[in-house]
Amino acid sequence: MDAKIEQLTIPLGYRLNELWHHQSTAPVLVALGVLLISYLIYNLTVSHLQVAFATDIGHIKGLPEIPGAVPVFGHLLKLGEDHATTCEKWWRQYKHSVFQIKLGNTRAVVVNSFDDCKNMLLGKNQNAVIDRPKLYTFHGVISSTQGFTIGSSPWDDSCRKKRKAAGTALGRPALRNYYPMFDLESYCILRDMKKDSANGEVEIDIRPYIQRYALNTTLTLCYGIRMDAVYDELLREILHVGSAISLLRSASENLQDYVPLLRYLPNNKKNSRSKELRERRDVYLDLLLNKVRDMIKRGVDKPCISAAILKDEETKLTGVEVSSICLSLVSGGFETIPGTLTSCLGSLSTEEGQAWQDRAYEDIKRHYPDVGDAWTNSFVEEKIPYINAIVKEAGRYYTVSAMSLPRKTVTEVNWNGAIIPAKTMILINAQAGNHDVDHFGPDAGQFNPERWLKSLNPPTEIESSGLGHLSFGTGSRACSGQYIASRLLYTALVRILSSYKIVASETHPPNTDYVDYNQFKTALVAIPRHFKVKLVPRDETATNECLYDAEQRTREHYKDAPCDVTDKDAIARVATFIAERESHLDILISNAGIRRDPPLQCNVLSASLSDLQVSMWSSRHSDWADTFCVNTTAHYFLSVALLPLLAEASKLKSGRGVIVITSSCASMHNATNVDLTSYAASKAATDHLVKLLAAKFRKFYVRVVGINPGFVPSKMNPVGEEGNMFSSLFDQVPAKRAGDEEDIAGAIMYLVSRAGAYVDGVSLCVDGGRVLVANGQE
Ligand code: HEM
Repeated sequence: MDAKIEQLTIPLGYRLNELWHHQSTAPVLVALGVLLISYLIYNLTVSHLQVAFATDIGHIKGLPEIPGAVPVFGHLLKLGEDHATTCEKWWRQYKHSVFQIKLGNTRAVVVNSFDDCKNMLLGKNQNAVIDRPKLYTFHGVISSTQGFTIGSSPWDDSCRKKRKAAGTALGRPALRNYYPMFDLESYCILRDMKKDSANGEVEIDIRPYIQRYALNTTLTLCYGIRMDAVYDELLREILHVGSAISLLRSASENLQDYVPLLRYLPNNKKNSRSKELRERRDVYLDLLLNKVRDMIKRGVDKPCISAAILKDEETKLTGVEVSSICLSLVSGGFETIPGTLTSCLGSLSTEEGQAWQDRAYEDIKRHYPDVGDAWTNSFVEEKIPYINAIVKEAGRYYTVSAMSLPRKTVTEVNWNGAIIPAKTMILINAQAGNHDVDHFGPDAGQFNPERWLKSLNPPTEIESSGLGHLSFGTGSRACSGQYIASRLLYTALVRILSSYKIVASETHPPNTDYVDYNQFKTALVAIPRHFKVKLVPRDETATNECLYDAEQRTREHYKDAPCDVTDKDAIARVATFIAERESHLDILISNAGIRRDPPLQCNVLSASLSDLQVSMWSSRHSDWADTFCVNTTAHYFLSVALLPLLAEASKLKSGRGVIVITSSCASMHNATNVDLTSYAASKAATDHLVKLLAAKFRKFYVRVVGINPGFVPSKMNPVGEEGNMFSSLFDQVPAKRAGDEEDIAGAIMYLVSRAGAYVDGVSLCVDGGRVLVANGQE
C-alpha cells in the first residue's frame, strides 16, 4: 500500500495537459493563459495578490493545510485526476488525516482515516454536515430540467420530503414488496449467463448482466417497467447516458466548478456536452414517466413510486420532485451495484479466490442442503455468514464512490478545537478510510472476505459493532438504498456461486487493485475495467432445476408471453399483457400455421380411384378443425383482440397500425402431388379474411394485408434438408429456386412501412412465380 502511494507522483504538468485536451483547443488554452496573466497582472498592480488566492471560506485556524497551492487553481492541479488516491497519499505523507485544501475558489476539508470519517459524519456533527454543495456544471447545467438527485440536493424542505419518500420506498420494511422482482432479475442473470456462455464453454464479460440487474430493479421500483434483453436499446441508452453524466460529475473532471473563469472560455466543450447529455436524459425520463401516465389512464399501471406519486396516493410532491426521486434511484443503483458486484466476482475468480468460492459454496449447502431452497431464500433472508462476509468485503474493498458525495456544513463544526465554519465543503475520502491499516489491519489493501469472520469452521460472523465500512456513507445523508443494495448483492452471489465456479480468463483477467480496477479515475462512480471469466458448472442438474422453478415462478413478468393461438382466452391474455406495457401496436404479424396431411397418403396424380378415396377419407374431422382453427380463426381473434392498440398506432400516423396475415400460394392453385386440401382451403379462407377484416377496420384505417409465400424455409418446408417432399419442384418455378428469408423480409418491410402505407386489404404473392405455372404441374 505504501509502495502504491509512493508511485503516485502527480506532476503539475498533468493538469495542464489535461486542460489542453479537455478544453479541447490550443486557442482556448492560449486565451486562458492571456486571461490568467492579465488577471494576475491586474491583481499585482493593485496590490491585491490575495484575491488570486481567495476562497469562499478563509483559512481554518488549527487545521493543517497541504502546502503548494497555486493562485487561482489552489490544489486542483496537484490533485491530478484521482483526488481520493492523492489525498490518501497526503494523509500518510503529512501525517494528518484531516486537512484543508483549496479547490480553486473553494476551501474544502478532507477527512481520511476510518475513525475521523465516522466521527465527522456521526454523533454531534451529524446535523452540521447534512447539506450538499451546489456545483456549477452538475446543478447549473445538467440538472436544470429534471431537478437534482437526492444525493446532490442541498438540504431544504423539498430535499427532506424527497429523502423521506425514498427512505419509505427503500427502507428495510419495504424489501418484502420487492421479492418477486429480486427473484426475476437474479434469475435472468443466471438464465442469460448460462445461455451466452454455452453453459460455461465460452468466456464471458459478466458486467452487462449485472448492469441489467441493477437498472431493471430501480426501473421497476420507479416506473413498474423492465427490459428483458441485456442489450435492449432503451436500457443501453440509460446506462450510456448515466455513465457519461457520472464522468462529468467529479471535481477532477470539472475544473470550471472551482475556477469560474474557465466557464467563460469560448467553445466550452464541457457545457455543450452536459447539455447534450441532459437532453438525451430528458428524452428517456419523459418517455418512462409518460408510459406510467398512459398506464394509469388505462388502469393497467403497476405499483411503483411514480404511479403512487402521480396518483397522489402518498405525498404531495411536485413533478420535478417526482422526477428527482426517480432519477436518484435509477442513478443511485445502476453503476454502484455493477461496480461492486462485477469487481467482487473478479476477485473471487482469481486463483486465490477459488478457495473463497469453495468455502462460500460449502456454507450455502450447510444452510440449505437443497440448493433450490438457497435460491428461494436468497431474496428473503441474509443468513449465510460466508456470503455476508463477501458482500461486506466487496463494499469495503471496491469503494465505488471513492470520494463519496461532497457535504457542506450548515453550522460550525468544532474539530478538536479548530472551528470549521458553516458553508464549508467536507470531502469524505471513503477509499482512504476503507483501506485504513490502523482500522482494518496491515492487510487492509487486500481483498479478503474472511476478515469479517471470527471462525471458518463453521463460518461465523464477527458481531457487528456499528459501521462496517464507509462505502454507503453514514449519518444524516447516508445512502438511502443500502438495504436494497446489500440484498441485491447477496441474492446474486448466492445464485451465481451455487451454480458456477468462476474462473478468471487467462487472456482477459480482472484487475483487482483497489485503485486501478477503475478504468476512469475521474468518474464519480467507478467503472471497472473489462475482464472475462469462465463459468464451470457446479451441479448442472440442480442448477437446471433452480432455473426451471424460477422461470415458472417469474414467468408472468416476461415480455415475450407464450400464447396458444387456438385458445381465445390465451389470445385475450396476450392482448392484455401487451396493453399493460405498450400504449399502441404498430405491427401484428399473424404468422402461425399448420398442415394436417391425410394419415394415409398416396400420389394424387397417379393413384387409382379407390386409393385416392381411401387416402382422402383417412383425414379426420379434427384435422380440418385444427387446420382452420390455426390458419384462419386465430388470425381473426388475434386481430380483433389487438384492434384497440393497432388503432392507437394508426392515430399517430396514417398507415401505422397494420396486420400482416400469412397465407400461402396454395390458396391459389389446385395442383400438387400431395393432398393439401384442408390446408389450401384454410388458406383460401384466409385470403378472403384479409379483405373482410380490412373492410371491417376501415373506419380506423387499421390496415390488413396478407402474404402468400411459395417455397420458403419453414418447419413445414425445410428447404435444404434431405427428404423434403417439395424439393423436386424448387427449380420448376420461374425464379428457379426456393425463396429465402430476405425474400419474405423485403415483402413485409414494404407492407408495414411508409412504402406500403396506402396498401390495404390485399395479399402479396411471394412465390417466385409458382402460381403462374403450378396448375398442371406435379
Ligand atoms: C453498492 C451499492 C451502493 C453504494 C456503494 C452506494 C453509495 C452511496 C453513497 C456513498 C452515498 C452518499 C452517502 C453520504 O454522503 O454519506 C449514497 C447516497 C444515496 N444513495 Fe446509494 N449506493 C449504492 C446503492 C444505491 C441504490 C441501489 C440506491 C437506490 C435504489 C441508492 C440510493 C441512494 C440515494 C437516494 C442517496 C442519496 C442520499 C442523500 O443524499 O440523502 N444507492 N449512496
